[in-house]
Amino acid sequence: MIAQETIDQIFSAVRIEEVVGDFVTLKRRGVNMIGLCPFHNEKTPSFTVSPVKGIFKCFGCGKAGNAVNFLMEHEHFTYPEALRFLARKYQIEVEEEEVSPGQQEEINERERLFNLNQFAADYFIHTLHTMEEGKAVGLSYLKEREIRDDIIRKFQIGYCPSVWDAFTSHAQKNGYTTDILVESGLTLQKEERYYDRFHSRIIFPIHSASGRIIGFGGRILSADKNRPKYINSPESSIYNKSKSLYGLYFARNAIASHDDCYLVEGYTDVIALHQAGIEQTVASSGTSLTQEQIRLIRRYTTNITILYDGDPAGIKASFRGIDMILEEGMNVRIVLFPDGEDPDSFTRKHHPDEVKAFIANHAENFILFKTHLLLKETAGDPIRKASLIKEIVATIGLIPDGITQSVYVKECAEVMEVPEQILMNEVRKIVRSKLKKGLPATEPTDIIAVAEKTPPQEEFALDPDEYQEKELIRLLLLYGEAEIPITRLHENNQEEVSMIQVADFMVMDLSGDDLHFRNPTLEAVFSVYREGFEQGRIPSRDQFISHADPEISRTAIDLMVTPYELSDNWEKNNIFIETEEKRIKQLVFTAILSFKGKKLDTMIAEKLLEIQTITDPADQAILLQELKNLKQSSMLINKELGRVITR
Ligand code: CTP
Ligand code: MN
Repeated sequence: MIAQETIDQIFSAVRIEEVVGDFVTLKRRGVNMIGLCPFHNEKTPSFTVSPVKGIFKCFGCGKAGNAVNFLMEHEHFTYPEALRFLARKYQIEVEEEEVSPGQQEEINERERLFNLNQFAADYFIHTLHTMEEGKAVGLSYLKEREIRDDIIRKFQIGYCPSVWDAFTSHAQKNGYTTDILVESGLTLQKEERYYDRFHSRIIFPIHSASGRIIGFGGRILSADKNRPKYINSPESSIYNKSKSLYGLYFARNAIASHDDCYLVEGYTDVIALHQAGIEQTVASSGTSLTQEQIRLIRRYTTNITILYDGDPAGIKASFRGIDMILEEGMNVRIVLFPDGEDPDSFTRKHHPDEVKAFIANHAENFILFKTHLLLKETAGDPIRKASLIKEIVATIGLIPDGITQSVYVKECAEVMEVPEQILMNEVRKIVRSKLKKGLPATEPTDIIAVAEKTPPQEEFALDPDEYQEKELIRLLLLYGEAEIPITRLHENNQEEVSMIQVADFMVMDLSGDDLHFRNPTLEAVFSVYREGFEQGRIPSRDQFISHADPEISRTAIDLMVTPYELSDNWEKNNIFIETEEKRIKQLVFTAILSFKGKKLDTMIAEKLLEIQTITDPADQAILLQELKNLKQSSMLINKELGRVITR
């Protein structure tokens, strides 16, 4: 863990224009700098960097953030990776957080394992390229498989000699204890003897997403049926099979730039495709995909293309795993390779362009693929067709986006030749039964109804539910410390005007009604103000710009640079406000009232729904009374809002 002090130091040293300037050519324009946006295609620059505020914002695609966000977005770094990158750039020594002795012990052990793995990889590489056995057996095998030299080097492929303890004794001579050697899995112990787990095997180091070696895979060279073709490092504190993907370190940039990830089964498939220039490829290494692996991929893209060499039976066995990908909101496509070919063998027989074209031409959407495949099997059997519908519908119900669901309902209905409405009803049934059990699920959207609504244009209006929330936080961030005059009415009917800071006013006003934000990031920002209020201080803007949670910093920055629209309205309606103070007060009051009004609207809508489900007249009467009260409050708020705006 990087110490907070170091993080602060990094943020205060960083000059955004220098960080961005390493990747984008910037020109000065007034106080800002502008350039061509690296996140979308453009010919005239709308990418703006503000050295003063320490942030960037593209007015073309809307991306915004601080230097760390920029690196995370552009280089696909994780948060700690971005910080370490900046620390190197600005020559700041990274201090690790004070940790308990137990945690320190764990960190030390992990470091020792990383260190040993690197030592082992170096030894295996050296053996492959310079030792007699390595060259004669290992290297010639790789040559026979047509793996190029540069690729062998890039993937750090090595060879472990056939002498039973060649590596183990070499490591011992270099000071590694048998304890750590066994712990890492590189060495096996049988009674009093130690020997190499990977002896006489080709070694494929497995890298973490940031490039450190976490484990190894070893391939046998002989066709000995009694020994497994591949063996892998056992799980350890640095290697967790279900959380790693072979090749991800070499693939991540290509995955992001192609916005697609090719998923294959084996080590050699990754290597062969990579060699053919198809670098966006990773392998699950023979196991079925896990949720952690899917989330790893989702850091770079929401599209997965599975390259299959299996027979239909094998493919069907993996359907459940694929459903999991859909559940994560990702799109899945399938490419089926010709019988008997895996991506590696196919790539060796074809020119890279042919391989690329084959994948492009054969990629089929998973849900349609599944529908076609199962339909073939049911061939005219109505009972089996009914169960097929159930299965497809279950898969569609997993997709966490209503509109996407509807699109699939439509397409699958066509393929299966059943009325769309039947499928739609089935999906709704499944989703509702899940919702009843408290499970997360999304209902398909009525596309026609959506299409008839005119799409809103404003960035904010895209998410009308959150507009009011965002506006409140925006004002807090921009004017939290500003003072506004508040008029208080005393018991003796005397008015007293006092100045109060915006942040304090908002916290008091909203807490009084116990109002909360729907959007968790906005709620998190607001709670910082709430805490600040309790401690008698107002959080600074910088605190959010450099917040440790990248979601919070991105949101805060985004809000701070969004030009507000109200002023336009005021100008249009010839409303003139004399002083900055009063203008801010107007903005704050309007925002609070709109926020409350929106809350009431939601409550009214919910109440209406509730009333529809109740049949008992007595209960209905109670609900109707509650509805009336809500509507009255809403009217009051609207009246007040009108008064504030036109005053
Ligand atoms: N695998 C494994 N243990 C085995 C067999 C396979 O861990 N005993 C994993 C390996 O990651 C392997 C993947 O499953 O890469 C796919 O296995 P397979 O298709 O049998 O091997 P290939 O990748 O085709 O390897 P090769 O081309 O070298 O035969
Ligand atoms: Mn193969």
